[in-house]
Order: sequence, then C-alpha cells, then structure tokens
Amino acid sequence: MCISNKIGPPVEGEDFFGREKEIRKANRLLDSNHSLLLSAPRRIGKSSLAKRLIEEKKQQGWKCVYIDLEETTTEEGFLRLVIEAFKENGIWKQLAEGMSKGLVSVLDRIEKISLGPVDLNIGKREEQEDLYKNLKELIKHDEDTFIVVDELTLFLGILNKSENGAEKVAFILNWLRSLRQVSKTNVRWLFCGSVGLRNFTSAMNLGYTINDLMEFGLGELSREEAEGLLSGLCKSEDMEMGEELINYTLDKLHWNIPYFIQVIFSKLAEEYEDEVTKESIDIAYNKLCSENYLSTWSERLSEYREFEVPARQILKSLSTQPAGMERDAMLNILMTGQDASKVEEIDYLLSKVLEMLENDGYILKMDSIRAFRSPLLRDYWFNKFVQ
Ligand SMILES: Nc1ncnc2c1ncn2[C@@H]1O[C@H](COP(=O)(O)OP(=O)(O)OP(=O)(O)O)[C@@H](O)[C@H]1O
Ligand SMILES: [Mg+2]
Repeated sequence: MCISNKIGPPVEGEDFFGREKEIRKANRLLDSNHSLLLSAPRRIGKSSLAKRLIEEKKQQGWKCVYIDLEETTTEEGFLRLVIEAFKENGIWKQLAEGMSKGLVSVLDRIEKISLGPVDLNIGKREEQEDLYKNLKELIKHDEDTFIVVDELTLFLGILNKSENGAEKVAFILNWLRSLRQVSKTNVRWLFCGSVGLRNFTSAMNLGYTINDLMEFGLGELSREEAEGLLSGLCKSEDMEMGEELINYTLDKLHWNIPYFIQVIFSKLAEEYEDEVTKESIDIAYNKLCSENYLSTWSERLSEYREFEVPARQILKSLSTQPAGMERDAMLNILMTGQDASKVEEIDYLLSKVLEMLENDGYILKMDSIRAFRSPLLRDYWFNKFVQ
C-alpha cells in the first residue's frame, strides 16, 4: 500500500503524510492532561491531524470520539451528536445501583436516542439545565479519553444567529468548560476549526470559557515533508519527477500546505503522458487558478458576516498587487464613497478584517506590508474576481 491522491476530505491511514513533529508535541500535551485548541488556517490539515491523533490514542487503549459540528446547526442537533458519539464509543456510565432517578431517566433517553429519533425536551430552561447537568455526571471521567470537536466556531456562529442565540452559545461553552474542570478528569479535548474561536469568544465576553485550552498551531509542511509528499504521490502513480521539478513546483506554490500539493499533483497526473516538465507544471498551476478547487476560500468568507464585504474588497485589491500593500492604501479603498467623519470607525473595521484574514491564512504581514500568503491563491483570486 502507498499514499494516494486525495483532495477534499480529511486523509486517514496510508494517505496521511508527515506531521511527525506536530504529532509528538500533541501527544506530549495530551499525555500531560492538557486539552487543546488547534487553531490554523483553512485546509491546512487540521481534521486529518485530529483523526491521526485519534488513531494513535486508540492504539494506546484510550477511548476516542470525533464529533463534526459541521453536521448540525441547532442546539438539539449538537446534543444529539454528542449523545450518539459518546454512546457509540462507550463514554457514558452504565446503569448502576444507587444512581439517582434523574440519571437513570437520562440514561434511558440515551438508549432511545441511539435507536431512533426521540424528542430531547430541551424547550424549557430548567429541563435543559437538568439534562446538561445529568449528562456531565454520566461521563466516565476516570478513563483515558480523547474527544475531538471539529468546527466548533462554525457551529456556534450559526447558533448565535438563532433566537436567544447568545444565551445558547454561552451555555454550551460554559458546559464544555465545566466538563474540563471536573476534578481529576482523564478526559482530554481537542477543539479544531479556524482561528476564529478566540476572536469569537472574546467578542462575546466569553473568553474565560476557553482560557484553559492550550493553543496548538499548525503551519505549512517543512520543505522536506513537502518534497516527501510530492514524490510519494508521484511514485503511487508511476510518474517520473526529478528533484529539480519537485523543487520548481514547491517554489511555485511557495506556501506548501498539503492541500495545494495534492491539488497541483492531481492536475499534473490528469495531463501526464510520459514526463513532467516545467511547462506542464505551469499549465497545471494555471488550471488550478481557473477551476474550482480553491473556491472554498471564497465560499467560507460568508462566515465573516458583516466583515465579508470589506474582506472581499481587500482581497480583490491585494490580488492585483503581488508585492503587497500598505495599510493606508487599504484604508483608502474602504473609505471610497464614505463620509470622512467615518474614518475612525472604518479604520477599526480594517483592523478586524486584517486580523481575520491573517488568522485564516489568506494574507501575511511583513513589516508594514500585507500580501497574499499564497501566490496560488492570489492568482486564483485575480482570475476569478478581477480579470
Ligand atoms: N497529512 C496530510 N497528508 C496528505 N494530505 C493531507 C494531509 N493533511 C491534509 N491533506 C490534504 O488537505 C486536504 C484537507 O485536509 P483537512 O480536511 O484535514 O484540512 P482542514 O484544515 O481540516 O480543512 P478545513 O479548513 O476545510 O476544515 C485533504 O483532503 C488532503 O488533500
Ligand atoms: Mg476540517
């Protein structure tokens, strides 16, 4: 077996390449009882890394759970996902003598939920609080357990817009925090998603609900890993690609995240006849700029809500300026057509937008200049939204 070309879903098993240093670091933190916040740009390999950690921890005998909150938009849906995933992986306690009536009835509901749709009855605040409290007590805190919650910010952002959204968000974040605060708990958590969780919670004065989490970053692949991934993919398809061409490709991508390597490889493989050349690499790159592989970067800007339009204005201008732009020039763009008295307000808006775009990996700050982090993304943007 060897690595195969996968573009889109998280990669697992043989298809997962590299990241040894990050895995060692995460293991060290988890083994010393830390819970983690994996904050990293889009498509950098967060979910794949989380799944790999789950595989490793399972082999060490830990109980593991992966919950993808992209699958739900409601509080009820959130609870259902948690209840089912915990049930499937043996996280809930068994029925035992001496258990309170409340716990027995919640255990009964857990059983039923796993058999089919059951009303969770969380309409009333007291009933809901009781349910969360009982669920907390039903978790086996004494066993080594690893729970990954993917796309938490995305889910909370949607929930926040529903009726009484802010209250629901605060409740869930506080509940999750209280699970981590149980004395001598052996349950460790990993929350992943875009970096937004810190921004999101601090904007809602809920920063304290996640301040026990250890920040865990994930960047591009090291040059050695990037070379290894590209040459591994070539081998799997019996494609010849010497060191010089591998370097030419990686230099052209510049920001070597595994997704970009996988997508450019897929284009090269599509056109491959009997050799790869610099020209065929250029053609593959240009195709990426005109096709939809990178559309996720545009689509996901909708999560920026009121910041989406200014973010698009900034990205559009930056895509025409490979060398980058000064902050003042960007402010001028946002001020176009605005009353001069709004300059302070718009200046603040610009700071927010730039911070979000930096966190999500769209742009990079070098001294006072901001530019697209990836030439590929920049050329795609130019092609799609300017040309
Ligand atoms: N370790 C890896 N080895 C090989 N390919 C990888 C690796 N990590 C990520 N990829 C590539 O990147 C793609 C996206 O990976 P993944 O879903 O893990 O990223 P993500 O950061 O969770 O993305 P999103 O921001 O969309 O949630 C995969 O389909 C695969 O092409
Ligand atoms: Mg993901």
